[in-house]
Amino acid sequence: MRIDVVSIFPSYFDGLTLSLLGKARDSGILNLDVRDLRDWTHDRHRTVDDTPYGGGAGMVMKPEPWGLALDELAASDSRASERPTIIFPSPAGEVFTQATARDLATREHLIFGCGRYEGIDERVFEYAADLGEVRLISLGDYVLNGGEVAVMAMVEAIGRLIPGVVGNPESLVEESHEDGLLEYPSYTKPSVWRDREVPPVLLSGNHGAIAHWRREQQLERTRRRRPDLLED
Ligand code: ADE
Repeated sequence: MRIDVVSIFPSYFDGLTLSLLGKARDSGILNLDVRDLRDWTHDRHRTVDDTPYGGGAGMVMKPEPWGLALDELAASDSRASERPTIIFPSPAGEVFTQATARDLATREHLIFGCGRYEGIDERVFEYAADLGEVRLISLGDYVLNGGEVAVMAMVEAIGRLIPGVVGNPESLVEESHEDGLLEYPSYTKPSVWRDREVPPVLLSGNHGAIAHWRREQQLERTRRRRPDLLED
C-alpha cells in the first residue's frame, strides 16, 4: 500500500519510523511518504494561509499549494488500476472506527491532507473529488489543533491491518472492536501479585471454559463501559 501525507509539520510523523509500521516501511510492505505542503508554494515566505472571505477569526489554508500537491500525488496514479482515496481529517467528518480502518486498509493509495488554522478552502475538497474518492474523517467529537495527530492515529490503525505488518494475525482477531465488543482482560505471570490473583479459570487448562469466561467478560465490559456498541 502507498500512503502519502501532506502537512506543514512533517516532523510530527517521525514516530511512524518506529515499531511495527517502521518495520513495514523498511520491508517495503508500506510505502509511506510524508511531504511538506510548503514545498508546493512559490513565494518567498512559503505562504500557505490567508484571511477568510466574509471575515471571521483565524486564517484559512490557501487552495493553490493544495491543488499542486494533489496534482502531483494523484497524477502518479494515472497508470494504476485505482484512483487514490483522499482523506482530510476534520472534526466535521464521519467518525473513524475499526470498520473505517478495515475499509481503508484495502485501498492501493491513500493521500492524507492535514489541515491547520480554521481549515482548508472548501474548493480544495471539490477539486480533490475530480482526482479520487474524498473522505472527511473525524477522530472523535473533540477539536484538535490540526489534522496531524488524527492522521497519526488513522495511519497506525490502518497500517496494522495490512497483511504482514502485524507478525501474528491472530492478535488482530482477538482485540477490541474486531467483533463489535471490547476485548477481554489479560493476565501474565506471576499468578499472585500484591495479593491479587489471576482468575482461576485461566489456570485451569480447560479451553472451553476459558473461551466462555472471556466471552462473558467481553459482554460485561461492553455493557458497562460502552452500552452504545450493543445497541447496533
Ligand atoms: N482536526 C481537528 N480536530 C479533529 C478531529 N477531531 N478529528 C480529525 N481531525 C481533526
